[in-house]
Parts: sequence; structure tokens; C-alpha cells
Amino acid sequence: MRILVLSLKGGVGKTTTAVHIAALLAARGSTLLIDADPAGGAHGWATRGEMPFAVADADSAKPKRFEHVVVDTRAQPKAKTLDEFSRKADLLIVPTAPSELSLETLPRLRDDLEDLPFKVLVTLGPPAPSRDAERALERLEALGLPHFAGVIRRYSAFEKAVQLGVLVRDVRDPRAAAAWGDYEAIGAELL
Ligand SMILES: Nc1ncnc2c1ncn2[C@@H]1O[C@H](COP(=O)(O)OP(=O)(O)OP(=O)(O)O)[C@@H](O)[C@H]1O
Ligand SMILES: [Mg+2]
Repeated sequence: MRILVLSLKGGVGKTTTAVHIAALLAARGSTLLIDADPAGGAHGWATRGEMPFAVADADSAKPKRFEHVVVDTRAQPKAKTLDEFSRKADLLIVPTAPSELSLETLPRLRDDLEDLPFKVLVTLGPPAPSRDAERALERLEALGLPHFAGVIRRYSAFEKAVQLGVLVRDVRDPRAAAAWGDYEAIGAELL
């Protein structure tokens, strides 16, 4: 499977999504995470600790050797990056926060993506009893945007995972299993 993670808005969980989707795919076959963001967030995260997948920068990546490839991009990816990776992708995952500023970029992105297969993923959903994530799903429905049924909630365990260079399931935190479970549910929708 070839997956590209992208968004126009920054800080919406692209890198977090790319790392965890790569880990889920790695359970099924050899997986490469390509960090196509010059800021190198995914690369740093994945090399601080141990990950079940390989990681490479866009220039040095040898994707043909891997069964699964996940590409993390910078916000508003350059046309060159899109050209290079989007046509080869089976799916483009577009993370969005439930905020209006993030949601309102999506119709524009859909126009840019034309006929490419994409699915929006609501991330950073505030904890219950907030219904912001559910409301975001309703907005996506109203906009006619394809989306995952599940959402990723906001858990501080994700921040700890970045610091430690591990997956969220390996963080010592009472909510770590719930946070990992959110991505597992997305993985189940994917496979
Ligand atoms: N579900 C979540 N719960 C809590 N914090 C999260 C969650 N997802 C991401 N974060 C945190 O939010 C910040 C932005 O996430 P991330 O780096 O994954 O977004 P991004 O879209 O890749 O950002 P950029 O556009 O800068 O590359 C990070 O500090 C990350 O640890
Ligand atoms: Mg990022």
C-alpha cells in the first residue's frame, strides 16, 4: 500500500498520523516512512527511538524495496512533492483539526487534488463531553468530503511519544492504549 499524508494547514497531525499508520502497516509487511518535509519531524521522531519500520528522506528513499510506503509531507506541499508521490499513492490521507480554520481549507484542497483518491481524517478531537470532533464529521458530510468514520482524539500521550521517539502505545501513560486504539481503528478502516 502507498499512502501520502498531506494538508494545507500546518500542525494538524500529519506527522503523527504518518508515523502511526506506518507502524500499523509494518505489522503486515516491510514498511518505509518517507519524510518529505524538510523540517524532518518524522525522521527525528523515528530515529530517536526504535520503530518497526524504516525511515528515509525523500532524496535517499528506495521505496520499491518495501511492501508499504507512507509519505509525510510539509503543510502546503510543493507541487514537485505532489507530482512525485501523489500519482503513485493508493490513498491520500488528509488530517484536519476540528477547528473551522482547518476545515475551511479542505474544499480548496479537494479542488487541487482533482481525481486523486483521498480521505479526510479528523485529528486532535477534544475529549468528551466536547462534540467538536463529531461536529467536524457532520461538516465533512455536508461538504461531501470522503472521510474516515473514526477520529483521533487529543491525548497528551502523543506529545510524550514524540519526545521519546516511540509509538504512542509504548508511552507510560494511562491514556496510551486509548490513543493507540484510535489509530488502530483507522488502520482497520484502511485495510
Ligand atoms: N491526537 C493528538 N493528540 C495530542 N497531540 C497531538 C495529536 N496529534 C498531534 N499532536 C501534537 O500536535 C502537534 C502537531 O502534530 P504533528 O506534528 O503531527 O502535525 P503536522 O501536521 O505534521 O505539523 P506540521 O504541519 O508542522 O508538519 C505536535 O506537537 C504533536 O505532538
Ligand atoms: Mg509534520
